[in-house]
Amino acid sequence: MSTVPVITIDGPSGSGKGTVSRRVAAALGFHLLDSGALYRLVGLAGRRAGLPAGDETAHATLAGRLAIEFGVGPGGGESVRLGGEDVTDAIRTELAGNLASQVASLAAVRAALIDRQRRFATPPGLVADGRDMGTTIFPGAVLKVFLTASAEERARRRHKQLKDKGLDVSLADLSREIAERDQRDRTRAVSPLVAADDAIELDSTGMTPEEVIARVLKLARGRL
Ligand code: DC
Repeated sequence: MSTVPVITIDGPSGSGKGTVSRRVAAALGFHLLDSGALYRLVGLAGRRAGLPAGDETAHATLAGRLAIEFGVGPGGGESVRLGGEDVTDAIRTELAGNLASQVASLAAVRAALIDRQRRFATPPGLVADGRDMGTTIFPGAVLKVFLTASAEERARRRHKQLKDKGLDVSLADLSREIAERDQRDRTRAVSPLVAADDAIELDSTGMTPEEVIARVLKLARGRL
């Protein structure tokens, strides 16, 4: 087990994990693992390669070989490259999210990504954002947070995020997609979305991102 401190932040889509994880990592000077981005990249790369959605072996091989680079973009935001190509925006679409959720239910794909995820745990520490960070990938994490919010609030947040990016998606469609994806993530056989026994559950409904970040930082500082 690694001695590098790891903080895991798991939870469903739209719970605010992404923002909270990024800001907590920045405040502590820790690295960040956005594990959802890995599944989005596999989904996207599989689609581009023309792989049938359920072809487990082919997707797992792809997952093991993907040349991924996470970095900082020109405006200071995130930058994600796949085989040298800038896919920062492409992996954030609802299509990529849905492909990700499908490939994420394939056991061999999850297995192919385990070591890649664990390698992000380097000094001085890591904040890992995902669904199974506290249960499967980093069971020895110093702090495990399970972040939730009501389904309505999560759909509203996602809608606003997409609107801010100039993408026009209906709230009703989004609510349905979120519910479907939640259901698939919670009920899959391998590493389902579930809080670790020793996770602290935090319901962010009605809380601002700043309030959630302050709560997580307080918990983190008590354990580091
Ligand atoms: O967090 P996100 O929306 O970027 O994740 C995209 C999909 O990937 C989501 O439907 C569930 C899946 N996922 C997963 O199964 N395990 C993770 N550790 C992270 C994401």
